[in-house]
Amino acid sequence: MGLSRAQTPQKMNILGIETSCDESGVALVQLLPIQPQVGIELLGLKPFEMQASLKAHELHTQIAMHQPYGGVVPELASRDHIQRVVPLIQEVMEQAGLAVRDLDLIAYTKGPGLAGALLVGAGVAASLAAALDKPLLGIHHLEGHLLSPFLSEVPPSFPFVCLLVSGGHTQLMRVKSMGQYELLGQSVDDAAGEAFDKSGKLLGLDYPAGAALSQLAMSGNPTAFVFPRPLLHSKDLDFSFAGLKTSVLTQVNKLGEQVAAHREDLAASVQAAIVEVLVKKSMAALAQTGDRTLVVAGGVGANQLLRRSLQAACEKQKVSVFFPPLKWCTDNGAMIALAAAMRVQYGLEQGTKAYGFEVLPRWSLGDLAA
Ligand code: KG4
Ligand code: ZN
Repeated sequence: MGLSRAQTPQKMNILGIETSCDESGVALVQLLPIQPQVGIELLGLKPFEMQASLKAHELHTQIAMHQPYGGVVPELASRDHIQRVVPLIQEVMEQAGLAVRDLDLIAYTKGPGLAGALLVGAGVAASLAAALDKPLLGIHHLEGHLLSPFLSEVPPSFPFVCLLVSGGHTQLMRVKSMGQYELLGQSVDDAAGEAFDKSGKLLGLDYPAGAALSQLAMSGNPTAFVFPRPLLHSKDLDFSFAGLKTSVLTQVNKLGEQVAAHREDLAASVQAAIVEVLVKKSMAALAQTGDRTLVVAGGVGANQLLRRSLQAACEKQKVSVFFPPLKWCTDNGAMIALAAAMRVQYGLEQGTKAYGFEVLPRWSLGDLAA
């Protein structure tokens, strides 16, 4: 059941549920009508009739639960989401000062992600929607990430190039407008987040090793070791990071017992290699499309060196760069509720049937119908 523009109520309370991997996230976004701007249509601009504002959010991370296993255990992830989602919804509704009957739309992450984990969020969302007789909307997880910079006080405007760097994806997308995504390039093997995680693991760091590696890198020398910059000089906008972890493994084996003494330098050198490729390709994407705005999204967007390096490169090219606030870089419910709100704003809220739901563990953002 989708909402037609005519049905769109004055004010909408939108619940977002994220359970694609190892975080249970729930948030409430309110869409409020704003004064139409007289004459804006004459300028060829789309009048925004509604404005989204985040009212409440809650997050439970499963890091501690997965840590002993060195990575995410899918079955444990699903079971934990089952225990967390309903209490998180109750907390969010309480924070927002609302009851579930006040909800106008229930959004959930439909994919990509772990099938069992996705099914938990989808099942709860669909049950709630059916019980309340409210519409249900499945959101693409990467669209959530891609739109997360709109949670900032100063949001970007379309069109822009988006560098999407999460644990499972490294993509450069051209975002022409809401829902219009063109894939410019992507990793042909490991994602950047995966390269951070796998390299960190080789250095003996605990899961989630990517963030730990970047922490360690702060006190290391980035030129101490030379790691490959795959596809740095290729003419396309693709990435490849699988060779990097092999190179780190070779270096770790070579150092043997000396590794401990070089961990900071190794971490800083790996980070420098990944960041250099991400920056170079992002700037090449901007040059190719002619866009003047870069948006960075996904967990690796929390990386401080990446943020600083992109800031400097964009300043040099007089291009604006937008990052989500740090807490919205990694998975959360706010980005899912916001993506749903923006779909409503743009009349793209055609959703899932009222009494059924699906999850798409493998789902390309390019396949999202505009
Ligand atoms: O977007 P996200 O939370 O989950 C996915 O949708 O995959 O991204 C998680 C990824 C992990 O690979 C993690 O190592 C990486 O983001 N990450 C970082 C940092 N914080 C999280 N990588 C580098 N530096 C960080 N500070
Ligand atoms: Zn994610």
